[in-house]
Amino acid sequence: MMDPPHINWIVSDVQHFSTEQQFDLIVVAEVLYYLDGSVEVRAAVRNLARMLAPGGQLVFGSARDANCRRWGHVAGAETVIAILEEELVEIDRLSCVGQSLNEDCLLACFRNGTSPSCGPTYQR
Ligand SMILES: C[S@@+](CC[C@H](N)C(=O)[O-])C[C@H]1O[C@@H](n2cnc3c(N)ncnc32)[C@H](O)[C@@H]1O
Repeated sequence: MMDPPHINWIVSDVQHFSTEQQFDLIVVAEVLYYLDGSVEVRAAVRNLARMLAPGGQLVFGSARDANCRRWGHVAGAETVIAILEEELVEIDRLSCVGQSLNEDCLLACFRNGTSPSCGPTYQR
């Protein structure tokens, strides 16, 4: 399948990617718990929020805190969602549970609260 010509996809390192360009959609799924600590997570979240266009959306997914701690990671879904809420507005959240203990995660959608000049509007 060919990419639509008006869409630019970028896959990047969540800690080091930086650009003045802003994006309508950022997806960060099952990635942030790999960072070393909450200072690094907060810096990465601020960096992502800065690159989200007004009215743009960020989709976040992660295993919950309890599993992440069991795996030796400091920041699972609940912790990162609280950090994301400092920067963005949460508009939807979904809990996904599978059959094994390891399959227990949250998906959450956020938007940049800055009003776009045009585009969709949302209610919480
Ligand atoms: C559990 S997989 C998740 C893959 C995919 N995002 C998904 O949801 O199916 C974790 C992925 O995070 C990537 N990753 C680890 N550290 C990263 C970083 N600093 N920036 C971007 N990706 C990273 C790894 O390369 C790996 O592909």
